[in-house]
Amino acid sequence: MTSTASLTLDPAFVVGPVRRRTFGSFVEHLGRCVYTGIHDPEHPTADADGFRQDVIDLVKELGVGTVRYPGGNFVSGYRWEDGVGPVEDRPRRLDLAWHSTDPNTVGVDEFMRWCEKADIEPMMAVNLGTRGVQEALDILEYTNVVGGTHFADLRRAHGREEPYRIGMWCLGNEMDGPWQIGHKTAEEYARLAKETANAMRMIDPGLELVVCGSSNSSMPTFGAWEATVLAETYENIDYISAHAYYQEKDGDLASFLASAVDMDHFISSVVATADYVRAVGRHSKRINISFDEWNVWYQDRVATDLAKGDDWPVAPIILEDKYNVADAVVVGSLLISLLRHTDRVHSASLAQLVNVIAPIMTEPGGRVWKQTTFHPFSLTAKHAQGDVLQVALDSPTHPTAKFGDVTSLDAVATRDPETGAVSVFAVNRSTEGPLELTVSVAALGELGLVEALTYTNDDHTWAATADDDSSVLPVANATAAVADGVLTVTLPPVSWSVLRLG
Ligand code: AHR
Repeated sequence: MTSTASLTLDPAFVVGPVRRRTFGSFVEHLGRCVYTGIHDPEHPTADADGFRQDVIDLVKELGVGTVRYPGGNFVSGYRWEDGVGPVEDRPRRLDLAWHSTDPNTVGVDEFMRWCEKADIEPMMAVNLGTRGVQEALDILEYTNVVGGTHFADLRRAHGREEPYRIGMWCLGNEMDGPWQIGHKTAEEYARLAKETANAMRMIDPGLELVVCGSSNSSMPTFGAWEATVLAETYENIDYISAHAYYQEKDGDLASFLASAVDMDHFISSVVATADYVRAVGRHSKRINISFDEWNVWYQDRVATDLAKGDDWPVAPIILEDKYNVADAVVVGSLLISLLRHTDRVHSASLAQLVNVIAPIMTEPGGRVWKQTTFHPFSLTAKHAQGDVLQVALDSPTHPTAKFGDVTSLDAVATRDPETGAVSVFAVNRSTEGPLELTVSVAALGELGLVEALTYTNDDHTWAATADDDSSVLPVANATAAVADGVLTVTLPPVSWSVLRLG
């Protein structure tokens, strides 16, 4: 049965700017993300640093802005000094987080060279699990100080004369999680984060600092953690992190497709908590969100994937989820949620970038290919331009086990004030039938249809592979038309679309 839904757009109702940092990603020393992912010296396209050019090309096509590094759970046991200097002298270390061995052939200098090649802004995380203020200062001196002191001169001796001047830093990772090496209570972490931030700003007052929020909104300490940490660190930091992963559980596709309801709730709760702390502390600035881990992740598989006992493999095949069309629709809808909160979500990272729960997959020494999730991400990164507009949304609802009744349509729109170009990103998250969508664009002036692309498949379980990553692609939606200030289009069930007007 076909249902109808509508959106009304008005250029006066701006949420905030589209931020390139919303389209960030994440490279962790985990599985094959770094080794045989971005870095594979034996590969035919590898450059002098061992980086795969074919991967860099796809990272650029994906439209990634920032990349968080080097973890993740990994960073909470990481000694950054192991990864600098002559490669043959670098120690191999146990990686307790992922029961692996890290050969340390890639470290901060290599990563920064990769960022320059891939046109990426780095977002560096410091270890506040097994380490503290001093080691955070040491790596900051290594990366950001001009010279004349031990670590700055060490960087120069390693061939990098100019400081990297990395601007954005995460103060640890998921310190609320009992799985984290050096897990802390909110009070313990808050003090350490505050002192670390304070000292780091003595070196470089302009740093943008991210304090750890909750690892997900189901954590027992969710809300209280944010309130405690922000009460202590408010004046010392700029962002609080949020992490969320979603998966289809027990065949409940309807709830899975509505995952953005949880992300919306997560964001509003953190914003409310940050603003509460602002009011109580009589602060003037606002703390915004760095949603620096989000994705679809079938976490139930992890436990069986990790090595055990005396087996500490290098670059094991772990967390290599294969994504289907429904997963891609969810990734597209999560991006809609992030964009609609652009006033308070100032940065976000799709976790992760290559091989590990990733849109880009590689074969060691071989092919590179795109997962289904690549498409909504790259098209949103490309076509979300200018300002995010509020959309007045009217949609039928359908029931879900997890979230109750949800709107079948979810959507956001952007408008470039320079060119007048408009993009509407829309998801039909119903499994039951198509949605006939009308979008009132009369207030935006004379507009014609530039392009309407829809990503869907009759079999939403279709997943891309190395042999076939292009049988199902976003295709032109022939139902789209614009007349008399109204765009009409039919959105198939379980679909993601971008509708472009200009
Ligand atoms: O992205 C995979 C893992 O998920 C990260 O290492 C950790 O921060 C999170 O729990």
